[in-house]
Amino acid sequence: MTAPAMVAEFDDVAAWTAEAVEHLGDQHAIPAACRGSSSPAALAWLAEACELSPGDQLLDVGAGSGGPAAWAARRFGVRPILLEPMPSAGRAAARLFGLPVVTADGRHIPLRDASIDVAWCLGVLCTVDDKAAVLREIHRVLGPHASLGLLVVVANRPVPDPPDGNHFPTQSELADVLDHTGFDLIEQTERPAAVPLSWTRRAAEVTAHITARYRTHPAYTLATSQDTRLGRLFTDGELTLQLLHAVKR
Ligand SMILES: C[S@@+](CC[C@H](N)C(=O)[O-])C[C@H]1O[C@@H](n2cnc3c(N)ncnc32)[C@H](O)[C@@H]1O
Repeated sequence: MTAPAMVAEFDDVAAWTAEAVEHLGDQHAIPAACRGSSSPAALAWLAEACELSPGDQLLDVGAGSGGPAAWAARRFGVRPILLEPMPSAGRAAARLFGLPVVTADGRHIPLRDASIDVAWCLGVLCTVDDKAAVLREIHRVLGPHASLGLLVVVANRPVPDPPDGNHFPTQSELADVLDHTGFDLIEQTERPAAVPLSWTRRAAEVTAHITARYRTHPAYTLATSQDTRLGRLFTDGELTLQLLHAVKR
């Protein structure tokens, strides 16, 4: 069963984000709808590492409200397909960006074998217990030697009491699961820290709009406490955000 905190974070907040963007304007959509990456430098690293090309079919697994896939479509001319299990997040992505969304779990991707040119999976593996199941499915739908771009919250040591629904892998667990599911890890780097003010300002305006409307909503309280716990683990040096480029073996 999905933890209530995850539903609050990924479903309720996604619906509120779409509503806030409609109020504030389209220029807010991509920064507000990038939940895992929240950094154009991280997205650019992944896009270049995966050699995204115009017309490529990009499958974004756990796409959330669609910011990263929309960014890739605008900047690199790819054709995204979004896969997202939370219905309101998928609806937010369709509403904000008009992108095709499949409402499904990454452990059972309803697409044909070898039908996808490149896949992203950003901020997702750390919320999934059975990481191998998701990676095996991505491997199945990717074409031969296709690229996979990952953003993963990695634990420097096992985290005894993680925020609800999170399962942070250690570096060696992550490397092992990629290897066992048929991926070669080509390159890895820590997520670049710098994010331009124009991007953080737009994201912050959306957050302020949501806070003003929903601060007393139980889902808002849950989502905020998850964010606070996560932030503390980063500040304490327990977690880092890693970008990875892997290739189907
Ligand atoms: C931190 S958010 C990242 C969203 C988006 N990738 C981004 O970078 O903005 C994690 C997403 O993973 C999705 N997710 C969780 N478990 C999943 C699963 N088993 N299969 C696919 N997606 C999943 C959540 O619903 C959520 O939208």
